[in-house]
Amino acid sequence: MPSKVVVGVQWGDEGKGKVIDILASRADVVVRSQGGNNAGHTVKSGGEVYKLHLIPSGILYKGVKCYIGCGVVIDPQDILREIDGLSERGIDCSNLRIDPRAHIIMPWHRRLDGLSERALGESQIGTTGRGIGPCYMDKYERSGIRLYDLVHDEIFTRKAAAVGALKNRIITQIYGGEPLDVPAIIEEYREYAKRLAPYVDDVSVLTYNAIREGKDILFEGAQATLLDIDFGTYPFVTSSHPVSGGAAIGAGVGPGELGEIIGVAKAYTTRVGAGPFPTELNDETGDLIRNRGQEFGTTTGRPRRTGWFDAVLIRHAVRVNGLDCLAVNKFDTLSGLETLKVCVAYKKPDGTLLTEYPCDINELKDASPVYEEIGGFSGDISTCKAFDELPQACRDYIEFLEKFCGCPIKMVGVGPSREQVLER
Ligand code: IMP
Repeated sequence: MPSKVVVGVQWGDEGKGKVIDILASRADVVVRSQGGNNAGHTVKSGGEVYKLHLIPSGILYKGVKCYIGCGVVIDPQDILREIDGLSERGIDCSNLRIDPRAHIIMPWHRRLDGLSERALGESQIGTTGRGIGPCYMDKYERSGIRLYDLVHDEIFTRKAAAVGALKNRIITQIYGGEPLDVPAIIEEYREYAKRLAPYVDDVSVLTYNAIREGKDILFEGAQATLLDIDFGTYPFVTSSHPVSGGAAIGAGVGPGELGEIIGVAKAYTTRVGAGPFPTELNDETGDLIRNRGQEFGTTTGRPRRTGWFDAVLIRHAVRVNGLDCLAVNKFDTLSGLETLKVCVAYKKPDGTLLTEYPCDINELKDASPVYEEIGGFSGDISTCKAFDELPQACRDYIEFLEKFCGCPIKMVGVGPSREQVLER
């Protein structure tokens, strides 16, 4: 298996965990390169369900090395909780390594995430409240605390005291919030530092060496294309680069090392949080998709908004990620619907057609989706073991999607487990 990158191509929750899990079982090294514990990958393996937030899915396979690159933001308390939870279930985390350049989420980041959302009122982004945005803000302001700092006590104490004092001024004077007890935080984080120290290593060097040794590398994406800080529905996005290019920077390897780029989508569209969603279904069909597809957030439990498959959005993802192929999940959820719709363009109130995803989300506000329709399929497809076993109408829908996306669909998901992914 050459190197592979797996990215989400909608608004997240496309079932990347399952696809990543299949590929991780064939890989030597799995690398995470962006985002933080805002991600939630549900993996079903050996009859068990694992909910991973920060640790790469390869951890479930003995001998697979798991690296967290410099582009990821680390919540020390959360990653230690995840390590402990996995260890209690007999999963060995000694193959985990975290880049010292990765930035640390501090309690003030979480506090400011909540306060800034509250200040936005109705314009809230609907963040996960994990402090992701404020942590990346400090990184790019060049005032952040890196894992390297955390595990060097003298540097950490000095930096945390200075940054913490400043953050308390922002929390109290700008937002009218309660200040944090910075000395107590420093004490608490010292303990985390001791426990995290054995995992710290240069992920860029480790990944480069693994590539040179001919190892199979899987770059595991988190979030998705439409949540990318540049290519997503700004400002309703996360603060990192979930597109494939982000994997190179966030792991510390050249773009030429990324190999095959695989985009994961659902056979329909969902999104969590606010922001435009042209194919959203606020009706019985939307409810049916939500309930049948169990569309509730892994990290926050929030009900997801649901809608038809949007091929304009996927074509955007094909281009900005340089996708080689798609893995499309949850075809089983659509079984029994008489007609299936695919959005191929957006129509503005003045009649203009938008065939490319626009830069400004306001252009989408009053735009209506232009649909192509195809007859639905029925029956229980979740037991199909091969692509050829799928009903003809389902295969027609898959080819319909390929035509409008301009990208081959190589994996077809018909149920939640790994065995229910049909590879073409
Ligand atoms: P943040 O990443 O917590 O700042 O949240 C920004 C936006 O990204 C919100 O709309 C979140 O719901 C969304 N988001 C962040 N991570 C994920 C994810 O892993 N899946 C789906 N949505 C996400």
